[in-house]
Amino acid sequence: MRKITSIEDLRALHKRRTPKMFYDYVDSGSWSETTYQNNSSAFNNYKFRQRVLVDIDNRNLKTTMLGQEVSMPVALAPVGLTGMQWVNGEIKAAQAAEEFGVPFCLSTMSICSIEGVAETVSKPFWFQLYVMRDRDYIKRLILRAKAAGCSALVLTVDLQIMGQRHKDIKNGLSTPPKFTARTMLNIAMHPGWALRMLGAKRYNFGNVVGHVEGVEKLATLSQWSNEQLDPTLTWQDISWIKDIWQGPLVIKGIMDAEDADEAIRHGVDAIVVSNHGGRQLDGAPATIDVISDISKTVGRRAEIWLDSGIRSGQDIFKALALGANGTMIGRAYQYGLGAMGKAGISKCLEILRKELDLTMGFCGANEITDISKNNIL
Ligand code: FNR
Repeated sequence: MRKITSIEDLRALHKRRTPKMFYDYVDSGSWSETTYQNNSSAFNNYKFRQRVLVDIDNRNLKTTMLGQEVSMPVALAPVGLTGMQWVNGEIKAAQAAEEFGVPFCLSTMSICSIEGVAETVSKPFWFQLYVMRDRDYIKRLILRAKAAGCSALVLTVDLQIMGQRHKDIKNGLSTPPKFTARTMLNIAMHPGWALRMLGAKRYNFGNVVGHVEGVEKLATLSQWSNEQLDPTLTWQDISWIKDIWQGPLVIKGIMDAEDADEAIRHGVDAIVVSNHGGRQLDGAPATIDVISDISKTVGRRAEIWLDSGIRSGQDIFKALALGANGTMIGRAYQYGLGAMGKAGISKCLEILRKELDLTMGFCGANEITDISKNNIL
């Protein structure tokens, strides 16, 4: 096997080892995929100021996110169906993150349930919430996250309607996969994945099945999630969520300074500048192009994190330099998971750490807090 030295190597291996339907689910964006592609390429428009003859012998990547010490300012973003990339994918991701000292955020649309993940880790993880029309279910879901000891609630606000993803529609993506002759042939061509999956406890949404009346069968489940995403969600609902949750609240999916301001006035602890990795509004700008403006509005009133397009430690450095206090990664660790399971996520994190560390050195920064606009030309 070729030596893995970059996130791109993990992506290529993920592609080889995973049925097309699930690989495509990760490696795609909405409509023309312009925002998806631009999220990563826009990082190239920012150049580093190289500095020399600074003592860079004691570089330290440790910092905090929501007051929690992290070994580097990177959290694993919530990703639906992670358990279809590798058996027990969410558990593998939570464990790899815990070992590495970075936060893991579990998606509402995960395969492993909140409780299933909680019993396999010793430190609290974060829970991401999609608000559905069935508010009674949402209330119970928030309370389940609380009971499981989750240390932050990440409310995603950019998916009350679904961006059209052509590949998923063409591939007939569903949980479990629709077993057409073509899908079967493709799965047969990935025997390692298929054999591992035989050991899976479930192939459906662990946070939903068994918790919503009438959602036992998979046909009903996909119908339920399509019908349930709640497009009536507004700022007024935030206090309802806060009252139930009563803990640190993060809003994910902010792309506009006015919305960032509104979020802070609603008392959130952190915002995530995110266009959902280019999976929702195609034509939205790259997050690296809006972070500077949004961070000026936010100031020190809340933490501000960036995701969408990060594929290297250099990207993380640029996000921090332009105003983010932290970052989240989605596909980078999904590639690692699909390539090599838990070891692949650890590899992904090691690659990013090495790249961030070297970039700090070349730019003359010893601490994360030393990184600023001064480092960018
Ligand atoms: C996501 N994302 C996401 N976000 C969320 O809040 N809940 C979810 O269930 C999902 N599901 C999901 C699935 C897949 C396959 C991807 C790639 C992404 C968005 C995710 O949290 C994050 O915002 C993006 O992944 C960031 O972009 P990059 O790092 O993937 O480029």
